[in-house]
Amino acid sequence: MIVCSCNVIMKKEIEEVIYRLLDEDAWRLITPGVVYHAMKMRGRCCGCFPNVISIIIEASERYHRERRTPDEQIVPFIQKIRVEHERCETARMIAGQARMRRSAA
Ligand code: FES
Repeated sequence: MIVCSCNVIMKKEIEEVIYRLLDEDAWRLITPGVVYHAMKMRGRCCGCFPNVISIIIEASERYHRERRTPDEQIVPFIQKIRVEHERCETARMIAGQARMRRSAA
């Protein structure tokens, strides 16, 4: 399944990068930018980012469950990822609205 049509990136490729990044540091906060940078790509329209975030959350949780990380460590980690992504999405939306206001003026 293609997740990013701008860069033609498949879900499986994203999951492999997430696992590789977590192998380097199991508690690293992974963002779409980190994933794309590791793939030597970058977001263009960034329309895929919400889906990439869902894949990051899903793959990070699976990674830790496969390694039998205790729930009391997984749950706060996944929550931290969600909060960070919500913060980034809010900042991205605000920046987009500011860009639209500037171009309309
Ligand atoms: S769909 Fe991924 S950057 Fe455009």
